Amino acid sequence: MSEGVQSSPAFTPRVFSGIQPSGGLTLGNYLGAMKRFAEMQNHGFETLYCMVDMHAITVWQDPDALRRQTRELAAGYLASGIDPSRSILFKQSQVAEHAQLAWVFNCVARMGWMKRMTQWKDKAGKNQENASLGLFAYPALMAADILVYHATHVPVGEDQKQHLELTRDIATKFNHDFGQEFFPITEPVIEGAATRVMSLRDGSKKMSKSDPSDASRINMTDNADAIAQKIRKAKTDPDALPSEAKGLDDRPEARNLVNIYAALSGQSVDDVLREVGGKPFSEFKPMLSDLAVDKLSPISSEMARLMRQPDEIDAILSDGAERARLIAAPILKRTYEIVGMTG
Ligand code: TYM
Repeated sequence: MSEGVQSSPAFTPRVFSGIQPSGGLTLGNYLGAMKRFAEMQNHGFETLYCMVDMHAITVWQDPDALRRQTRELAAGYLASGIDPSRSILFKQSQVAEHAQLAWVFNCVARMGWMKRMTQWKDKAGKNQENASLGLFAYPALMAADILVYHATHVPVGEDQKQHLELTRDIATKFNHDFGQEFFPITEPVIEGAATRVMSLRDGSKKMSKSDPSDASRINMTDNADAIAQKIRKAKTDPDALPSEAKGLDDRPEARNLVNIYAALSGQSVDDVLREVGGKPFSEFKPMLSDLAVDKLSPISSEMARLMRQPDEIDAILSDGAERARLIAAPILKRTYEIVGMTG
C-alpha cells in the first residue's frame, strides 16, 4: 500500500482480493495481482485471498476442469509466496456469506450501473439476451466478496478498476439508504509497473487467459523453452530501446516488455531504461527471457509439486474457509439486522 492510500478511518486496514479459476494463470495475473498479494502479506497487513469459483461459473465451465483449475490456482497462490499461516486462503463457494450478502447487494445496486460495466459489455457482447443472469450480477457478488470482510484495500490490475468503483457505489448507497456508516469505502490498490500487462502479439490488447493465441501470453506453467520462445517471437518495433520513459510513448510493445522487465526485477521503468537504453531488442529479449525464467521457474516447479498433493491443498482451503467465516458471519448477521430481516 503506498503511503498516499487512506482507508476509511473507522475501519482497521484489511486486504482482500480474488482470482477466477477459469483457466491457467498468466504472467499478467502474477505481476498485476499475485506477486503484489504476497508483498502486502509480507508487509504485515491482514490479508484474505480467494479463488472466486462462483464468478467463474457465470460463463460455462466444465466441472472437472473447474475442480482442477481451482486447485491449480491455489497452488499458484502458495507457490507465489502466500503463506496460509499469515493469509487466509480459501475458495469463495465454501463461505456461503458471499452469496448471502450478494443477494442484499443485488437489491441495492441498480440495473443502470450494471449495464455500464465494460466487462459486461465485452463478455456478453451482442448476445446479451443469452448471457447468464450471474454474469450481469457479477459486480454485486464482487462487492460482497470485499465488503463481507469490511476489507479496506483491494490490490488488483487496472482492468478491475471499474468494478471497484461500483463496490464503492454499493457501499455508499447501502450506508445512505440505511443511515449508517456500516460498510467501508474500499480503496483500490493499483500500483507498480505491471498493472496492465499486454499481449505479446498485440500491444493494444490485455494479456489474457482467454486469448485464443497461446503465443500471446506467458502461462505460469510454461517451461523455460516455452518462455524463451514466446519472448523471442514477441512483437516489437525496429528501433532500439530509449533511455527515458517518454521514449516509450506510441511504442506499446516496447513499453510492455520494459514494464514486464521492471516488474520482474523489482526496478522502476526509469532504472531499467538507464540500464538497457540504446540496446536493440535482439539484446534485450534474451535478458528478459533469462530474468523471466529465473523468476518464474521456481514458481512453476513448486506449483507442479503442490499439484501432486491435492489433499494438502484441500486441507489448506478448508481451514482458510473456516477462518474466513469467523470474520464474515458477524458482518452478515449485522447486515441482516440493519436491513430488517432479523433482530
Ligand atoms: P481475474 O481472475 O480476471 O484476474 C485476477 C487478477 O489479475 C489481474 N490481471 C492482470 N493484471 C495486469 N495485467 C493483466 N494482463 C492482467 N490480467 C489479469 C486482474 O486485474 C485481477 O486483479 N473480477 C476479478 C476477480 C474478483 C475479485 C473480487 C478481485 C472477484 N471478486 C474481489 C478483487 C476483489 C477477476 O475477474 O479477476
